[in-house]
Amino acid sequence: MNLIIFGPPGAGKGTQSNNIINSFDLKQVSTGDLLRSEIKIQTDLGKKIESIINNGELVSDDVVNTLIGKIISDPKNFNRLIFDGYPRTIPQVYSLEKLLEEFNQKISIVFNLNVDKDIVSKRANGRVICTKCLRIFNVYLNPPNLKNHKCEKKHLEKRTDDNSKTILNRYETYVAKTKPILDYYSKKGILFEVDGNQKIVKIYDKIKGILENIRD
Ligand code: AP5
Ligand code: MG
Repeated sequence: MNLIIFGPPGAGKGTQSNNIINSFDLKQVSTGDLLRSEIKIQTDLGKKIESIINNGELVSDDVVNTLIGKIISDPKNFNRLIFDGYPRTIPQVYSLEKLLEEFNQKISIVFNLNVDKDIVSKRANGRVICTKCLRIFNVYLNPPNLKNHKCEKKHLEKRTDDNSKTILNRYETYVAKTKPILDYYSKKGILFEVDGNQKIVKIYDKIKGILENIRD
């Protein structure tokens, strides 16, 4: 089963994807994470896209479609992907569809995390990520402590695009270019709306229930 986890910046796509992969034999693919690792090791691509990401705009469809193509064509990933933050434009939707068809797969379900603008902004502003264990925390809402996080504090980092100005741009880009693609999945009858304003566990309970029903 392949699925998409959809929602505005800071909605909880990464957090819920992590929860899902802990209970289901699925693999998360975050185009944001893939692009940030290109920037971290300063590849040619990383150098080109750094300012785009830091301004909260979208990287070109060709670039992300190529990254996703490599993942879908890998037999290890057959029919077990969670797309987090992809697709984000109509051309990306069609490219994903074509690629999946080529490799005899499809999207079974799309979860849309509905979260209010002021809440996503607070979530993104307070986010810290452990570069060692890759867990996502929030200094206001879900702070790392001795119980929930075993790595040293020095590994905790803020994302460079998690500042008020870029968060606003990311949100506006989402509304203008990404939100409209929901219609496509709604018409296919595979879109599930989830109230993402709730607590992390409550949201996950809902997602888990739906996934267990599909699997049965
Ligand atoms: P990307 O990395 O995908 O960023 P995003 O879409 O802005 O989403 P985030 O990762 O910020 O949020 P999230 O929904 O994963 O939330 P999280 O779980 O971390 O993309 C970054 C950039 O890359 C884009 O702006 C673009 O430039 C480029 N890009 C990426 N994909 C692209 C594509 N396909 N095409 C073109 N360009 C692309 O949670 C956020 C915080 O909230 C955390 O601190 C977490 O602890 C907390 N939290 C989560 N859920 C809850 C809850 N229920 N209650 C309280 N706190 C919560
Ligand atoms: Mg994310």
